[in-house]
Amino acid sequence: MAPTTSSDKEAVVVVDLRSDTLTQPSALMKQAMVEAPLGDDVFGEDPTVIALQKKVAALLGKEDALFVPTGTMSNLVAVLTHCQQRGSEVILGDQSHIHLYEQGGISQLGGVHPRTVRNLPDGTFDLHDLRRVVRSDNEHFPVSALVCVENTHNVAGGKVVPLDWMDELGATCRQLGLPLHMDGARLLNAATALDLPPARLVRSCTTISLCLSKGLGAPVGSVLAGPQDFIKRARRTRKAVGGGMRQAGVVAAAGIFALDHVYPALGRDHRLLQELAQAVEGCGSKVIRCDPRGAHTNILLVECDPSVVTPEALCERMGQATPAEVTSLGEHVIVRILPLTDSKARLVLHCDVTPGQVQSAARKLRYVIKELDSEC
Ligand SMILES: Cc1ncc(COP(=O)(O)O)c(C=O)c1O
Repeated sequence: MAPTTSSDKEAVVVVDLRSDTLTQPSALMKQAMVEAPLGDDVFGEDPTVIALQKKVAALLGKEDALFVPTGTMSNLVAVLTHCQQRGSEVILGDQSHIHLYEQGGISQLGGVHPRTVRNLPDGTFDLHDLRRVVRSDNEHFPVSALVCVENTHNVAGGKVVPLDWMDELGATCRQLGLPLHMDGARLLNAATALDLPPARLVRSCTTISLCLSKGLGAPVGSVLAGPQDFIKRARRTRKAVGGGMRQAGVVAAAGIFALDHVYPALGRDHRLLQELAQAVEGCGSKVIRCDPRGAHTNILLVECDPSVVTPEALCERMGQATPAEVTSLGEHVIVRILPLTDSKARLVLHCDVTPGQVQSAARKLRYVIKELDSEC
């Protein structure tokens, strides 16, 4: 982000760390969009969409894939396609994006009943809990039809779900005869953190939703990957929920560009996030704390002592600069962050945040934390 200028002509550095969905398509990404060959994708004739779908299927080691406008629609289409019997139930984490932040669309639009298991702080859940909630064959009960998992786990702070647990989860689902869907909105961040091919992380998943418009920097798009017969049925579901797009190659081209050029650079965001985490931890504050080892990817959760400062108040303070602070830091920095819970605020990095902006944000965090410490 370019520095903006305030009314008194003082340069203001604005560092926006609210979300990795704030990215702008780069000039080269836009050029790829302009030059993309197009067709009508509802007829299955858009060569760029076809190329993106093939690319994602190969990347995830699945037979086929389907381009959809958003992560929410990708998860919705996946759940509705897996749960075609009325009275179906999906088992998912109580802190999962599908459960918390997708308006209950699986119930609202698909009549699918959610059954939650408690998410643990690392984004997993207890596999005994999973076995316990699977329904027996009884006419009083819904029918267990699907298990969902999220990787990286957003609310857990972008945590990479441990690979051995994923393998155990896959084995458990196979034993239970249940398909496994992964909300892999940030799967490529997880693959980058583990330094493994994404296909290895989703080996035990039947289907995966992968977002192109989070840290990958595309303006729009998600891809649902899975077995060929499933994707054929998912295409019908996508049409029913209004996701059949026509010359969609113009945006699919941004996705291809993101996979080729932004995905290889995700490690940079993870390294820069550690600079922010170290800045917070290095303060040794009891008011604002974080766990750099728990910050696996591009999301940092900071824990506030709400008796001193609530997450909302911290976000407000980070969005202002006092005259004393500007003099002390030698720059006027505004850092935009989001409150997440009663005690946590969230900072997220992405390809548009520069190392210089991260350093400015780190300096400001140190200053504000010292100020809060001095108040108690
Ligand atoms: C884990 C996860 N899944 C799904 C989504 C939904 O994606 P979209 O905003 O494209 O609908 C998000 C959005 O932030 C997310 O974080």
